[in-house]
Amino acid sequence: MTGTVMSPVEALDALGTVQGRQDPYPLYEAIRAHGQVVPTKPGRFVVVGHDACDRALREPALRVQDGRSYDVVFPSWRSHSSVRGFTSSMLYSNPPDHARLRQVASFAFTPPNVRRMHGVIEEMTDRLLERMAGLGSAGSPVDLISEFAARLPVAVISEMLGFPEKDQVWFRDMASRVAVATDGFTDPNALAGADAAMDEMNAYFAALLDRRRRAPADDLVTQLAHVHDSAPERLSHDELTGTMMVLLTAGFETTSFLIGHGAMLALEHSAYAARLRAEPDFADGYVEEILRFEPPVHVTSRWAAQDLDLLGVPVPAGSKLILILAAANRDPGRYPDPGRFDPGRDGSQVRPLSFGAGAHFCLGAPLARLEARIALPRLLRRFPRLTVSEPPVYRDRWVVRGFETFPVTVEP
Ligand code: HEM
Repeated sequence: MTGTVMSPVEALDALGTVQGRQDPYPLYEAIRAHGQVVPTKPGRFVVVGHDACDRALREPALRVQDGRSYDVVFPSWRSHSSVRGFTSSMLYSNPPDHARLRQVASFAFTPPNVRRMHGVIEEMTDRLLERMAGLGSAGSPVDLISEFAARLPVAVISEMLGFPEKDQVWFRDMASRVAVATDGFTDPNALAGADAAMDEMNAYFAALLDRRRRAPADDLVTQLAHVHDSAPERLSHDELTGTMMVLLTAGFETTSFLIGHGAMLALEHSAYAARLRAEPDFADGYVEEILRFEPPVHVTSRWAAQDLDLLGVPVPAGSKLILILAAANRDPGRYPDPGRFDPGRDGSQVRPLSFGAGAHFCLGAPLARLEARIALPRLLRRFPRLTVSEPPVYRDRWVVRGFETFPVTVEP
């Protein structure tokens, strides 16, 4: 530390510690004190401003990490099945592959197709709430995350993909383990668990694909298998399983953290809980404000394929940029009093970067929004006396951030 001013490098180092990750927001402000686009060392930038993050996400010269960039920074990546899985998906692809990979799955996530899931999500939500009521009868604490917020997204995406209900708890476990591979590759040893989970998932996917080929069903797995079988140049075998894996993992923890924070914020602000119970339309703006205030994905990254200028800051080709979406969402230049949770903000002004922007804009955003808009009011209506029984505990990860556990009581 220099006097009371923390340097950007000190702030980033602090974000690498357990303590720093507990409450990263003051560290984001420490970085913001140095600008919107802050150089940290030659060829390294951290981006915290709303406009700069938005521009960076939409800038074609800024690429996501892919197999070619891993060849430079992590040459042994091919020996890790979890990394191979992600790099075969749209999330880790650049032009020209990206548009092709996104196109094969995107039809399932268009707003009209997602709206068709409305009734199914309501029904799944109510079933999970009844289960929770049973677990929490006589005042026993129930973990809102593992018993509700994490179960709903897995149930919904499993239904869309066509994964059997009996395997959903197993999927959740696998998805959490394999997601470690998205946290950066500085410690290849940490990838051993992710690789083991990916190997198990690959074996499962192979058996499921085989069953669907013999007996096609009205689900996404059958449709993806058909694309691969009829036109392998559109979707190779690795890309097929990579797509299934990313659809399963990208929306699970993220959506559960959105619901977890939404429930916590409602319990902290009883007036909002009352409005969520009484006014069906209030949930839309409420969910946008949770996304802004406590985004499940705090960070993403890009590298520069050529020299460029980012809001007046020259970024040389080959540079790596850390984009802190959670800091952009609290940019005081974009949102007045950004550290205040306020679902009453002018809705037309609230456009958080929580789902990214540009070519990689979250494919599942309409689905995640719909799940949270249905789940939160129903949770609060079903349990009018929902109470925090112990403070929620954050999971110790920076990139995808949310509650690991959140014990509540559902009745006195
Ligand atoms: C609250 C929940 C969610 C959040 C906060 C979230 C966030 C994000 C973000 C920030 C990105 C862009 C990453 C980047 O540009 O580097 C992304 C991409 C993606 N998300 Fe989500 N996501 C959520 C839910 C979902 C769901 C439910 C699904 C699918 C079932 C999903 C599937 C995807 C996919 C496939 C991509 C990659 C898109 C591409 O590369 O073209 N996400 N998500």
